[in-house]
Amino acid sequence: MEAPIRVSKGLDGTVVGRSSISWVGGETGDLVYRGYDVRDLVPGVPYESVVHLLLFGEAPDADPSPEVTRALRASRNIPPGVLAAADALPAGLPPLEALRSLISLQGDGTAGYPPTREEGFRLIAQTPELLARYVRRSRGERPVAPRDDLGHAANYLWMLRGEPPAPAHVAALEGYLDLLADHGMNASTFVLRIVVSTESDLFSAATAALGALKGPVHGGAPSRVSDMLDAIGRPERAEGWIEGRLRDRQVLYGFGHRAYKTDDPRATKLHEIARAVAEPERLRLAESVERTALALLRAAHPNARLFTNVEYYSALVLEAIGLPRAMFTPTFAVARTAGWTAHAIEQASDNRLIRPDVDYVGPAKGLAWPRARGGA
Ligand code: ACO
Repeated sequence: MEAPIRVSKGLDGTVVGRSSISWVGGETGDLVYRGYDVRDLVPGVPYESVVHLLLFGEAPDADPSPEVTRALRASRNIPPGVLAAADALPAGLPPLEALRSLISLQGDGTAGYPPTREEGFRLIAQTPELLARYVRRSRGERPVAPRDDLGHAANYLWMLRGEPPAPAHVAALEGYLDLLADHGMNASTFVLRIVVSTESDLFSAATAALGALKGPVHGGAPSRVSDMLDAIGRPERAEGWIEGRLRDRQVLYGFGHRAYKTDDPRATKLHEIARAVAEPERLRLAESVERTALALLRAAHPNARLFTNVEYYSALVLEAIGLPRAMFTPTFAVARTAGWTAHAIEQASDNRLIRPDVDYVGPAKGLAWPRARGGA
């Protein structure tokens, strides 16, 4: 009889490697990109400079990073075959489903192993462009080309809408993109690193990562936060609605986190951004629902340390800048392409195939097949 195997089901607390990209201080409520506290980057640091920090390992000499700005511009040259394939997607697909194919299409056979920064710039530049093109086409609108005079955040809104975005919306989206650019060994980044560890390419790894990001307990939560606020409708209805949900053992989206056992610094920052751009009545509803939800969650789970997570005020910010709910998780992916690239390169720089084990609990060896085997 072999000794019992210790199983770590959700890999909680399991350290799978070393990384110098971002530090998630779950007990202290910190998120640090290569030494920089994200709270000090937002507002004001352009997304291009955060990309620079994550990909080159240090802050750029100027904002927005001239190197990244140049590289993203040069990477927007999407081959006609890729555009034609993107345009051939069924127009009724939810943007997130379309995005999975659009990321995959960027892997045109030229990307290999190890992943490169140039491939990363392609992923970062082309993901919002292809996504905006798809969304416009599915609304029967012509594509809008990116503009060289606009930054990454402004260009995203410009390509989606075809009109110059309001500066307040650009600032809010920039803060959102900065805050969601990377986050330690979260589920989608882990998936990406597993794929890279097999010596596969960046676009295959990012396609797989998007599949993980889609799940409602990971990056799929924010549209459900908006749905919840709609369903509650008025602050005085929050208590009854939430009690019913907890009674049915359903989760409340936007609360709880595997790593943070205190305030999530991104949630605090996104709350600040929401205060600046959200419609006052929506904001009041969200704040009131948040207070009620935290009180009831903490009463239901007195031993757990439950706080508001990044997705709660992400929903308010993305709503306020006019993005439809179906674009919430795709926009999360637009932000995370930076972190995914940095992690892919780091994984390849000191690679070992990620191949854990499982405790087999099926029948023991020795069963005989129940019929005579054919072909003998
Ligand atoms: N709603 C209801 N119950 C919850 C919630 C929630 N939001 N969060 C945690 N709990 C419960 C758990 O079910 C668990 O109950 P149990 O002890 O009866 O099994 C207890 O509180 C303790 O949970 P934890 O161990 O702290 O949470 P865990 O690490 O398992 O899960 C998770 C983290 C998956 C994020 C969870 O909090 C959740 O489902 N939240 C809602 C979905 C969400 O908002 N996801 C976005 C996360 S942020 C991101 O990925 C970008």
